[in-house]
Amino acid sequence: MNEQQRKEMDQVRQKDPKNNLERIKDKSTDEFMKYFETTYQPPNMRDAQRRRKKDVDVHYDFTIPEEMEGVGEDRKYLIRTYGCQMNEHDTEVMAGIFETMGYEPTKQAEEADIILLNTCAIRENAENKVFGEIGHLKSLKRENPDLILGVCGCMAQEEGVVNRILQKHPFIDMIFGTHNIHKIPELLKEAMFSKEMVIDVWSKEGDIIENLPRSRKGKIKAWVNVMYGCDKFCTYCIVPYTRGKERSRLPEDIIQEVRHLAAQGYKEVTLLGQNVNAYGKDLDLDYGLGDLMDDLHKIDIPRVRFTTSHPRDFDDRLIEVLAKGGNMLDHIHLPVQSGSSDVLKIMGRKYSREDYMELVRKIRAAMPDATLTTDIIVGFPNETEEQFQETLSLVEEVGFEAAYTFIFSPRENTPAAKMRDKVSMEEKKERLQRLNALINKQARETMETYENEIVHVLVEGESKNNPDVLAGYTKRNKLVNFVGPESAIGNIVPVRITKAKTWSLDGEMAETTVGVKE
Ligand code: 5AD
Ligand code: SF4
Repeated sequence: MNEQQRKEMDQVRQKDPKNNLERIKDKSTDEFMKYFETTYQPPNMRDAQRRRKKDVDVHYDFTIPEEMEGVGEDRKYLIRTYGCQMNEHDTEVMAGIFETMGYEPTKQAEEADIILLNTCAIRENAENKVFGEIGHLKSLKRENPDLILGVCGCMAQEEGVVNRILQKHPFIDMIFGTHNIHKIPELLKEAMFSKEMVIDVWSKEGDIIENLPRSRKGKIKAWVNVMYGCDKFCTYCIVPYTRGKERSRLPEDIIQEVRHLAAQGYKEVTLLGQNVNAYGKDLDLDYGLGDLMDDLHKIDIPRVRFTTSHPRDFDDRLIEVLAKGGNMLDHIHLPVQSGSSDVLKIMGRKYSREDYMELVRKIRAAMPDATLTTDIIVGFPNETEEQFQETLSLVEEVGFEAAYTFIFSPRENTPAAKMRDKVSMEEKKERLQRLNALINKQARETMETYENEIVHVLVEGESKNNPDVLAGYTKRNKLVNFVGPESAIGNIVPVRITKAKTWSLDGEMAETTVGVKE
């Protein structure tokens, strides 16, 4: 790490909530709640608000430095991606940059000249997987000393991870954070010509680079970033630290990208952001996600999704626009995290169970058939059996059709990681099983309502498990496997459902679209 980088890291550390965290260290739940209600300030919020107006610059001038043009000819790159769709899409951008430099993709680590691990920090097991993989890469590097190994993504934004790599895995050539993807050509140049590990993390967390190349994974569905970062600072979550401040892309840049994708024949776009409902709040334009969706509603692309929502920012304007139908899908992924207002408060979610249920009521009133899915954390520090049961009852009350469920994983330097926790891991695992059993039951019951119905499926290709069968998703995100002609790939076709399973439907192509259930 050079002097400048060290200085920047120190500055970040000073702004970090470290002091804030020290004060809440080792508090019991009651003390924590009291502290939370009276004193706790989400870290960096004020900084974040000031910074975004002043410091976020939008750049349209990305170029590959002359000396790096063509450097990848006869060379291959491999990127292993961990974690969320945001990471998947970042990988598409990095792939675009490598391919612009002349590199070709490969899936074989043995023939790669560059291997990048695009990492996820959301839970400890995600990090463990990456450290396991770093261990495996060591022997490849020994066999081929010219191989460039890089670690990027969310873990690279964690000081503890960077230090661990420096100390224990010095054969890694470069580490760069989520804000520095556009600097790949420069970093690569440094890594190729210097013996030192190249580290570029944290440096500037504000800018938006608009004209980065992208090598998209498919030709049917595409991801489109609408915003970067998160300012919510839920007390368990590392994302605001690894992804930086909320910053929205300008509406015209997003609309142009979606138009372009529609013209290229894409059938579905998913708008991405850590908290998409905060879209536009930093722009001073009086233009939010509802307005953006309304503009996208007019574009001739069959399906527009968005993820992930935060209930607190989900406003009436958005509901009104979603209710217009058309390419607006009535599947809403709305992470609730817990059904207990007390737990929600300590999680820093800024809504209660009642607020959440009121939002669900409004959504159902505007879109009676809306499918709701969610994320839930069990075993938040000191979660009681009663509080857990409130989660179970909320799951039933809302009627979630699917959910991603997790056991709380303490993340370094987040407030929740500092709490004393009396609940055993055994108990947490048992709660997770009970929750999953309920969700599976609800998923299965919903799936059964599709038997003998016709649904519209956007066909993505052959099924992963059986090449004789095609697979795709309905508007409500139900996976359908069916027998049909190859010509259906890339199209939206009617399928009659013959059999329901818990997480997928089996069917056969239908001749008619009469009575489609969607
Ligand atoms: N432990 C467990 N789950 C977490 N999530 C975020 N942080 C943690 C954590 N520390 C879950 C939340 C979020 C999803 C993406 O990951 O449910 O919505
Ligand atoms: Fe993490 Fe989502 Fe909360 Fe942001 S809103 S802090 S990404 S859980």
